[in-house]
Amino acid sequence: MAEAGSFADRVKTQADIVRVVSDYVRLKKTGQNFTGLCPFHSEKTPSFAVHPVKQIYHCFGCGVGGDVFSFVMAMDKCEFPEAVRTVAEKCGIPIPKPRARTPEEAQANRQRSALVEMHKEAAAFFARQLNDSAEGTVARAYLEDRGLDREALARFALGYAPSSGDALLRALKQKFPEKLIDSSGLVSKDQSGRLFDRFRRRIMFPIANENGKIIAFGGRALGDDLPKYLNSPESPIYSKSGVLYHLDKAKDEIRKRDFAVLVEGYMDVIGVARAGVGNVVASCGTSLTEPQVKLLGRFSRRVVVNYDPDLAGQAATERSLTLLLEQQFDVRVLALSGGADPDKFIREHGADEYKKLLESAPAFVDFLIGRARALDLSSAEGKLKAMNYVMPYVQRVPNRLIRSEWATRIASQLRIEEPVLREAFRKAAAERKGEVKPKAEFISAGPKPAERRLLRMLIDAEGFRETLAKEIRVAALHSGLETEKIFEALLVAVEAGARPDSAEISKSLSEKDRRLLFEVAFEPAMDSSWEEAESCLAVLRRRHIETELFTVQQRIEANPPAAELRTLLARKSELRRLLSSLL
Ligand code: UTP
Ligand code: MN
Repeated sequence: MAEAGSFADRVKTQADIVRVVSDYVRLKKTGQNFTGLCPFHSEKTPSFAVHPVKQIYHCFGCGVGGDVFSFVMAMDKCEFPEAVRTVAEKCGIPIPKPRARTPEEAQANRQRSALVEMHKEAAAFFARQLNDSAEGTVARAYLEDRGLDREALARFALGYAPSSGDALLRALKQKFPEKLIDSSGLVSKDQSGRLFDRFRRRIMFPIANENGKIIAFGGRALGDDLPKYLNSPESPIYSKSGVLYHLDKAKDEIRKRDFAVLVEGYMDVIGVARAGVGNVVASCGTSLTEPQVKLLGRFSRRVVVNYDPDLAGQAATERSLTLLLEQQFDVRVLALSGGADPDKFIREHGADEYKKLLESAPAFVDFLIGRARALDLSSAEGKLKAMNYVMPYVQRVPNRLIRSEWATRIASQLRIEEPVLREAFRKAAAERKGEVKPKAEFISAGPKPAERRLLRMLIDAEGFRETLAKEIRVAALHSGLETEKIFEALLVAVEAGARPDSAEISKSLSEKDRRLLFEVAFEPAMDSSWEEAESCLAVLRRRHIETELFTVQQRIEANPPAAELRTLLARKSELRRLLSSLL
C-alpha cells in the first residue's frame, strides 16, 4: 500500500512497530520477539507477537497479522492515510500538511487542531493567573494549605480561572474566531447570546488525552460555590467517557509496574502521584465507563480501586467492579479507614503508610466478603444474603474456572454449606441468563497456570520428569481436566522412557490441544524445581478432591439406602479433611 518514495513508504521504513504497538498492547521482550495479549481477541496468555526486525505482527491465537499500518488501522478503526499519520506522529516523523479526503473532513480536522491549540493557550492563561495575578495569590494560598507547593502546581499544570466574567474569553479572542471559541466548552452563552467564561473563580485542572494534549478542564470552586467541581462539556475534542485523568503521565509506569491505581478525584491523583505512586488515574467527573476501562486495559489489566470511603465512594466502587471484572481485570480494592480519601489519608498518615496499604490491598472478593460480614452470618438466611450480595460480581468474571475458584473461596470464608452455595449459584445463573452471553472463548476456561507448568515440566524437567509422571498417573490427577489428552500423551511418552518430542506427540492431538502444547513448549525456559512441581500437583489434587466431593454430595442427596449413605458420609468427611489439609 505504501508506494515507493511516498510519505507512507518513508514512515514505514523509519517507524518502529514495537514502539507503535506498545501504545496499544503491553509488550514484553521474549527472545528476539516481543509478545503480549492479542488486542484482537480475548485471551489470558499472550499469543500476539511482534517481530522488531521484520516489522510485522502476528497473533498465534486468532491468526491476524500485518504491518504497522494495518495494525493501527485495525486498532483505531481508521483508514490508511490516518494510520500513516498516527504512526508518523507516534514515531516523531514530521508530517507534511495533512490532506483530508473531503472538505468537511478537512474542516473538522482543522477545527480539532485549533481547539487543541486553544486549550493549550487556555492552560497557559490559567497558569499565569494562578502564579502571577493578585487573585491567584488567594488560590495559591488555598492550594498551599492543601499541601501543594509551587513545584506541585507546575508538575500538574494547575491554574486559576479568575472571577471576572470574560478574562479568558478576551484573551482567546485575540487569537481565535468567536465561533471556534463557542465550540470549545471554555465559554458559556447568556440569554442574549453573549459569550462569557464558563470557569470563574476556580482552581483549574487540565485534562489531557493519552498523548498529553490538553482537551478539557476540571475546575474546583475556591470556596463553597456549587458545583464543587465543574468540568468541560463534551466538545469536538473531548468525550469525557473516554478519557482518564493523568493517564498521559501514568501510562508508562502503569505498563512497567503492571497495575494502575484508580481514584475518584483530581486531588487524589495528585496526592497519590506525589506520594511516589505515579501509576494513578481517575475518571473525570463521571463514574467509570466502559471506554475508560478499555483504555486502561491497554496498559495493564490489574487495578487497585481506591475510591473515597464514603457511601458514594462505596457505591462507585461496586459499580466499577462490575465493569472491570467484565473486562477481565484482576481487581483489588483499597478501602482506607478513617473516612479519608486518598489525598487526605496521605497527608495525614504519610506516603509510606499509604504504599504499605496499597501493597496489601485485598482481592475484590475479599473486600466484598468484608462488606458482607456486616450481615448476620450466624444464620443460614444471613449467609445466603451475603452470598447473594457477593455472587453477582463473581458472575461477571468471564472465565468459568476463575469464577468457580472465587465461589469456593467465598463459600469457605463465609463457612457456607454446599446447599446454600448451590442455591446462590442457581440464583446468580438465573440472573445471568437474561444477559448477553460472553463469547465462547471467554467461557472456555483455559488451563490453569499450574497445569501449564506441569505440562512444561513433563516436557523438559530432566531431573524429575519420571517421578512427576508417576505422581500424576497414580492418582489420575489429569483425569477430567481440559488438558487431559495432552497430559495423557506426555505421560505415555515419559513412561516409554523417552524425552517427549512435542512435534511427534502433537500428531495424536486435536488442533486445539496441539496449539496449547506448542504454546507451552514455546514458553521461555524457567528453572523448575521439585518444590514447584509439588505445589502445582497440589492444585490438581485439590481440584480432584473437589470434583469427588461434588459427586459424593450428589449421591447423598439422591436418597441412597442407609448403608450406602453411611459410606458416602464417611467419604465426604474424609474428603473434606483431605481438602482442608491441602489448603
Ligand atoms: P470529591 O467530592 O471527593 O472531591 O469528588 P475531591 O477530589 O476529594 O476534591 P477535594 O479534595 O474536596 O477538593 C471526587 C471527584 O468527583 C468529581 C470530580 O472529578 C472530583 O474530583 N466531582 C465531584 C464532580 O465532577 N463534580 C462535583 O460537583 C463533585
Ligand atoms: Mn474526595
